[in-house]
Amino acid sequence: FNVPVAKNEPIYSYAPGSPERAKLKAAIEEARSKQIDIPMYINGKEVRTDKKKPLSPPHDHQHILGYFSEGDASHVQASIDAAMAAKKDWANMSWENRASIFLKAAELIAGPYRYKMNAATMLGQSKNAFQAEIDSACEIVDFLRFNVQYMTEIYKQQPESSAGIWNRVEQRPLEGFVFALTPFNFTAIAGNLPTAPAMMGNTVVWKPAYTQIYSAHVLMEVFTEAGVPPGVINLFYVDGPTAGDVIFKHQDFGGIHFTGSTGVFQHIWKTIGENIYKYKSYPRIVGETGGKDFIIAHESAHAKAVATAISRGAFEFQGQKCSAASRAYIPSNMWEEVKGYVIEDLKTFKMGGTEDFTNFINAVIDEKSFDKIAKYIDDAKASDKVEVIAGGNYDKSKGYFIEPTVLLTTDPKYTTMCEEIFGPVITIYVYEPKDFEATLKLVDETSPYALTGAIFSQDRYALEVGVKALEQSAGNFYINDKPTGAVVGQQPFGGARGSGTNDKAGSMINLLRWVSPRLIKETF
Ligand code: NAD
Ligand code: ALA
Repeated sequence: FNVPVAKNEPIYSYAPGSPERAKLKAAIEEARSKQIDIPMYINGKEVRTDKKKPLSPPHDHQHILGYFSEGDASHVQASIDAAMAAKKDWANMSWENRASIFLKAAELIAGPYRYKMNAATMLGQSKNAFQAEIDSACEIVDFLRFNVQYMTEIYKQQPESSAGIWNRVEQRPLEGFVFALTPFNFTAIAGNLPTAPAMMGNTVVWKPAYTQIYSAHVLMEVFTEAGVPPGVINLFYVDGPTAGDVIFKHQDFGGIHFTGSTGVFQHIWKTIGENIYKYKSYPRIVGETGGKDFIIAHESAHAKAVATAISRGAFEFQGQKCSAASRAYIPSNMWEEVKGYVIEDLKTFKMGGTEDFTNFINAVIDEKSFDKIAKYIDDAKASDKVEVIAGGNYDKSKGYFIEPTVLLTTDPKYTTMCEEIFGPVITIYVYEPKDFEATLKLVDETSPYALTGAIFSQDRYALEVGVKALEQSAGNFYINDKPTGAVVGQQPFGGARGSGTNDKAGSMINLLRWVSPRLIKETF
């Protein structure tokens, strides 16, 4: 069980004048200058259809980057057939060979594919260079490297034996195929969801969000070049309900690895329940879903640190991180100072396309998201319970741009304090310092989600109280830091309540969900 010790991929800064910046700019220019023709990948073959759908940068929606071939139910069925046909050989392949393929994929992304990968994420999903780098270069590489290490740790674990008895465990893949259903907001998550089960010997059918197809395509190029055999990962572009209708009724459905919204996951869970008698085994259901992530400051906190956590934690990638801070609770004797720092910081946030590296804020993912976020802002403007502290403007004429928006409410149960908006909007509630414990209770009571949260304090007693009171309110909890930016191998990520099954992406817990152990007892 000797594998390379996993290390986090170093982050490139793309500093002005650096060769890395020049290479990334060249990759962006190349991508913009041609029109790509993106196929599905089924059974190791590129599959194209007559239904060509355009892909555009969210920040420049009149520009066409290329087209992808949309499939239908027959492509979902063909993907399942390919996965089932490839299953035996893949499951029987030695773990070393499987590990090698994914370690090679990591090296390809860290090396020759890095700029192409980041350019696809910057153009397709409107991430700035830094947000793309930590996602589609570093985090996916970390997932691949650390998961290989966790895989070997799982295989290593064996039960005790005794005189005349040999107990051993075989970590078999699941019966049937695994469905990877992936979101738009992290290229790394889209890459992790099919590869984690595949690494453990499963074959996979993968449906990405339509708004992430550009970078999904580059990931699939990498997996193919790394040597993933035909049929092991099958990628199709079919709308969710059509894909679900074929997959969840299939007797060989073995499990789902999902990241996306809470509503979609709940619908999927119900559908699986309705079809439960069709399956050979209980399917594994792993889902990481929505969040309403919070920051609470105690009066002993450093105001500047709280303000930075608000402006960075809420507005990186336009607030479209599942971990993004979207509500904050600030003591009244600190609010003016925090507000001053936040407004000062926001003045430095330039907004525009990702091609200009000086832009920090880019566009939100599509028109549907834009309209939804704009409605929250309009409703807030019309409410007598809310004051707009910063931002509040939006414009979709060229791209789906929304200013970073800070709302202040007198009602801690106002909609934007409770519902996931998934955009660049944070709502602040100012409380009296004497009500710290009551406010902690309020944070928990208004948390139908439990993904990330942060507490700021320099007072150990306050931290003691806060950490306990918020025990169930977040799966990833941060003390004196913003609630975003979990790193694979350091802060395994996931939440409970409406935020998912908390199987911690990038951990042994997650990989254990993709095996069905057989215990063998042999008596001599
Ligand atoms: P989404 O739920 O809209 O889509 C996720 C995937 O499900 C997409 O591939 C989509 O096409 C598919 N889908 C949608 N409806 C479907 C249906 N009826 N049947 C089958 N498939 C269907 O999510 P999104 O907008 O892509 O991503 C944003 C959401 O993901 C946010 O809620 C965010 O909080 C969440 N998220 C959570 C985590 C986490 O770790 N908890 C991480 C990233 C994103
Ligand atoms: N790794 C991402 C974050 O923590 C999900 O922001």
